[in-house]
Amino acid sequence: DVAPEPVVYGQSDRPPRGDYSRATADYTCPQNYAAYTPADHETYRKLYERQAALLPGLACDEFIRDLPLLGVKDRIPRFEEVNERLHKATGWEIVAVPGLIPEVPFFSLLAARKFPVTDWIRKPEEFDYIVEPDVFHDLFGHVPLLFNPIFADHMQEYGKGGLKAHRLDACELLSRLYWYTIEFGLIRQSDGLRAYGAGILSSGGELQHSVRSPEPQRLPLDIERVMRTRYKIDSYQQTYFVIDSFQELFDKTAPDFTPIYQRVKSLPELAAGA
Ligand code: PHE
Ligand code: FE
Repeated sequence: DVAPEPVVYGQSDRPPRGDYSRATADYTCPQNYAAYTPADHETYRKLYERQAALLPGLACDEFIRDLPLLGVKDRIPRFEEVNERLHKATGWEIVAVPGLIPEVPFFSLLAARKFPVTDWIRKPEEFDYIVEPDVFHDLFGHVPLLFNPIFADHMQEYGKGGLKAHRLDACELLSRLYWYTIEFGLIRQSDGLRAYGAGILSSGGELQHSVRSPEPQRLPLDIERVMRTRYKIDSYQQTYFVIDSFQELFDKTAPDFTPIYQRVKSLPELAAGA
């Protein structure tokens, strides 16, 4: 048995490392492009190169097709360059943030079709593992699918749903849905299983594990089952949820969650590997 490498994305009890004094009231800030060193650009270039080579047969077709729309791959892109294409494609834009931001500002940005992207990049010694999302995870992992019209609409609905979940004290349940779909979701294509979750697509090891390993269980997406299931942030997932299309994801998340939250709150939680 090989111990799994830590995943690339998660939250921790440590204070976030970004400089939040740069942020305005909505938690966005200018992308500090001048602050990137040649070593930072080189880290991005190497991450992109390694990850892009792993995608065939493991990442979904939509992701592979739209990844080049990020533009440059040999340095950290300027967010304005990405936005020129992204806004034309789906009306989304990316906005810079100093790191993880609180729930309500996060949901508000998504509801306005603005995706927050951390602007700093990991250190070379964090190449395979970083506790917090950085510019590579946020851009490479999340932004290609924002070029897809159905996925783009789904992300906005998620933001609106987040604001509602906040009012209903159900953010933890909704965050499990985010985790098991937007971060770690799998999709069944005509030619086999693929990854669409950003946490998988930006991870060196979990791509192979999630799609090919016989170890994890893979269940069809079931909203209540997802909301009951805890998740691990420091190991590969033991359970993945599979959709057949982004339309399925959109349709299954469209109903009013108010009664679903109520029911799920009355049911026992399930362990990550249950
Ligand atoms: N339909 C959900 C609700 O009514 C909102 C939502 C949409 C949540 C899409 C996640 C994704 O609360
Ligand atoms: Fe993410």
